[in-house]
Amino acid sequence: NLDRAIRPTTLSDYIGQPKVREQMEVFITAARQRGEALDHTLIFGPPGLGKTTLANIIAREMGGNLRSTSGPVLERAGDLAAMLTNLEEGDVLFIDEIHRLSPVIEEILYPAMEDFQLDIMIGEGPAARSIKLDLPPFTLVAATTRAGLLTSPLRDRFGIVQRLEFYDVADLTTIVRRSARLLGIDMEEMGAVEVARRSRGTPRIANRLLRRVRDYAEVKGDGVVTGQMASLALDMLSVDKQGLDHLDRRYLSMLKERFDGRPAGVEAIAAAMAEDRGTLEDVIEPYLIQQGYIQRTPKGRILLDKGMMVED
Ligand code: ADE
Repeated sequence: NLDRAIRPTTLSDYIGQPKVREQMEVFITAARQRGEALDHTLIFGPPGLGKTTLANIIAREMGGNLRSTSGPVLERAGDLAAMLTNLEEGDVLFIDEIHRLSPVIEEILYPAMEDFQLDIMIGEGPAARSIKLDLPPFTLVAATTRAGLLTSPLRDRFGIVQRLEFYDVADLTTIVRRSARLLGIDMEEMGAVEVARRSRGTPRIANRLLRRVRDYAEVKGDGVVTGQMASLALDMLSVDKQGLDHLDRRYLSMLKERFDGRPAGVEAIAAAMAEDRGTLEDVIEPYLIQQGYIQRTPKGRILLDKGMMVED
C-alpha cells in the first residue's frame, strides 16, 4: 500500500515532536544497552499525528517484531492470550484504541505488563482451571486519542507516556516535501507550504491532501504542484485558507447560529449536527481548541472571537 512508501521507519526519519523524539531516543538506547525490553509505553493524541508510526519505529529500533491489535478487536480472554503467547523476547505488542478494551481483558493485561505472567481461566463450571504461564519480556505500546479515557490502574502501569501534539507549518512542510519526493511528485516549495498550512496540523491529512493536489495538478495543469495549483485544488476540496474543513465550519456555525455564542454541551452540539459525540471530542474539537477557535469550560463549549469570524 501507498502509505508504506512514506511512513518513516526510524526515529531519525521522524519529523517534528522534538520532545518525544529526544526522550524516546534516550529510553530506547538505555534499554538496548542494558539488554532489556523497553518499558511499556502509552502514546496519546488526536488521530493522524503518528501514533501507529511511532509504535512501528519503537519495534524497529528495539530490534523486535511488531504485533498489532486494537481494543475493540480483543473481545475474549483467549484473543489476548493468543497474542501474548505468540510474543518473543523483545517484541512490541501494539494495542491501538486501548481505551476501548473490555474490563475482563484489562484484568489479564495487568499481570502480563507487571510480571510477564499470563493468568487466565480455561473451561467452565467444575472443570474450570486457572492456568499461569511465563511470558517473555515484551513491550506493550498502546495508543489512545485521549489519556483521560483510561482507567487509572491501567494508566499507572505505563513507565513511559508520550503525548503527540499538532505539528506546526514548518514541520508539516518538511513532511509534505519528504512525501512528495518519495512518491515522485513534482512539487514547488510554495506548493508544499500551501498543503502544510491547510492540513489541520496533521500529517495524515497532509499526506492525503498531497495526493489530491497532485491529481488536480496533473488534470488541470502540467503536473507541477505550484503554490497556486495547491491553493486551487484545496479550494475545490472545501478546505479553507485556515485549513478548516467542512465539519469544522459546521461545528463553528452551529455554536454561532443555533447556540448564539452561549456555552453548549457536547451532547447538544452532537445532536444538532447529527454527529457522533466521540468524533467531535476526538477529531474536531482538539484542533479548534488548540487554534483558539473554541474553549472547553465547565458550562460547555464556547465560541471565542476567532471562531466567531469564521465564514460558513
Ligand atoms: N508521516 C507521518 N508522521 C510523520 C512524521 N512525524 N515524520 C515523518 N513522516 C511522517
